[in-house]
Amino acid sequence: MYKVLVTRRIPGPWLDLLKRETEVDIWEGRDPPPRSWILSRVKDKDGLLVTLTERVDREVIDAGVNLKVISTYSVGFDHIDVKYALSKGIRVTNTPDVLTDATADLIFGLLLAVARRIVEGDRLIRDGKWNLPWYPEFMLGKEVSHSTLGILGMGRIGRAVLRRAKGFDMNVIYYSRKPHDVDAKFVDLDTLLTESDFLVVTVDLNQETYHMLDYSKLMKMKRTAFLVNASRGPVVKEEDLVRVLSEGRIAGAALDVFEREPISPDNPLVKFPNVVLTPHLGSATRETREKMAEIAVKNLLNCLKGESPLYEVKL
Ligand code: DGY
Repeated sequence: MYKVLVTRRIPGPWLDLLKRETEVDIWEGRDPPPRSWILSRVKDKDGLLVTLTERVDREVIDAGVNLKVISTYSVGFDHIDVKYALSKGIRVTNTPDVLTDATADLIFGLLLAVARRIVEGDRLIRDGKWNLPWYPEFMLGKEVSHSTLGILGMGRIGRAVLRRAKGFDMNVIYYSRKPHDVDAKFVDLDTLLTESDFLVVTVDLNQETYHMLDYSKLMKMKRTAFLVNASRGPVVKEEDLVRVLSEGRIAGAALDVFEREPISPDNPLVKFPNVVLTPHLGSATRETREKMAEIAVKNLLNCLKGESPLYEVKL
């Protein structure tokens, strides 16, 4: 029987299937397993099922002398040294598609929340500070309908955000490595930064996108514009974002991802009322997380059986 290391419990019945077909060694905690646990347990395993919090670098890959497949329970694979794994003949699989809608929904939720001051309003009521009846200039936000949405990246999630934006009659522009056949205008990065009312980050994290949005880029945004990021924290240089927010150079931000997660309560982002924060919830619906579990398990089993996985990471 094949031996498999699983670094976290996953929702739905799929672990049971894995347990029927392989010998599973699983970390039962909700916190990430210590690295030493992974390094010692991976030694005799044929497959590894990880989440995005486990760094699968050369050391882990070298320790897994029998490894045939690394299946990540995520679409992102920036936590895995894919090039090295592939060079050793280890297949790498991920779970795209099934989380696209959930993530695009959250992006739109964040966008609406920050534009229409939903979280601020909720907090005001809970703090007992809603003390005047309706008046014309109270808590004015930014109109979402008919405004310009700039999408950075036009992969699956970028397209799903675009579909939603059409329902809001938004004017959509986008920048990505190459133009796509979509109902939005392809522009260069500078135009995207200078013309967007809402700039939504959907690119994945890699060497090219690391700190892609730094001070000089963020300063190109309109003073009235909002940044929305639910992709990976390090695409935005967080200290530079704090700086532009402190200087009032953009209107606000809505963030689901951060350079270090979880963020500390002392993180300067926490103090801005015009910043909406969620704890990496992009794919966090029961339906999506169960589908991700199904795909991660099937990817792993297929590879162990020498069959094609449902999704495979190729460089
Ligand atoms: C991913 O899959 O990469 C998301 O960040 C979490 O689902």
